[in-house]
Amino acid sequence: MAKTPIIVRTLRELRGQVWEWRGSGETIGCVPTMGALHDGHLSLITLAKKHAGKVVATIFVNPTQFAPGEDFESYPRTEAADIAALASAGCDLVYIPEPGSMYDAGHCTSIKIRGVAESLETDHRPTFFDGVAIVVTKLLNRVAPDMAVFGEKDYQQLATIRRLVIDFDMPIKIVGAPIARDAHGLALSSRNKYFDTDGLALARQLNVIMFECAAKMRAGMNVDKAAEQARQAFLDAGYDSVDYVSVASKNSLTKLEGGILNDNARLLIAVHCRGVRLIDNCAI
Ligand code: PAF
Repeated sequence: MAKTPIIVRTLRELRGQVWEWRGSGETIGCVPTMGALHDGHLSLITLAKKHAGKVVATIFVNPTQFAPGEDFESYPRTEAADIAALASAGCDLVYIPEPGSMYDAGHCTSIKIRGVAESLETDHRPTFFDGVAIVVTKLLNRVAPDMAVFGEKDYQQLATIRRLVIDFDMPIKIVGAPIARDAHGLALSSRNKYFDTDGLALARQLNVIMFECAAKMRAGMNVDKAAEQARQAFLDAGYDSVDYVSVASKNSLTKLEGGILNDNARLLIAVHCRGVRLIDNCAI
């Protein structure tokens, strides 16, 4: 039977447990989440367990990464099911900060990341990475792990966090986890819960169009032309709109210029499907 993880809600309890483990020579892995966990999150826990003796998951729906009008209020909150799922994955401790304890009334620090955090997501969600940067910094400072795992589905977020940790001299190894997909190839996401049957069928076209686009690029089609065809394919399939179909360098995330592919290219896509914003990406 799965062992229930230790649940802590205060920084004092969190630090007490982590220091006790450190005292007995354990290494610590961290998997920050916003809850509404699915098998993709559990694969992050499994990966963290390969790197660290004890794994801490955090659950916090971070208000600062949602823009006004986004789904902060309606974001699924499923704490009991999340804890059961984390137990099944062998997570050792779940940190669920008490509401109000992450950002007290005096909170006034912000972090602006340029470079990898510019363009792509930032063109459409200008304050998203500011919110991610501050909460990830706080969570990593609180847990003080040796390593932390983030999913490659949020590819630009992963690149941004890698940069953040370097820039703040945090002694934490950041490990990217491969994208977990359902049997139809749809990247697992907490927001997939918003779809009805029809919406889910349409959402499952995302990876089909994306992989077709990558195959065309690999076969030698001009990158801009293949991206434009993918954009049109989404609209023809019935997607609401396309934020971007973009090819960027896999490390710097600078846009590939000139329409010619190189070995470092990553295809990144953001679309709106029946009112739900979806992102996905793949190597080319
Ligand atoms: O990817 C997420 O779930 C969130 O952006 C993160 C990294 C937990 C920060 O709130």
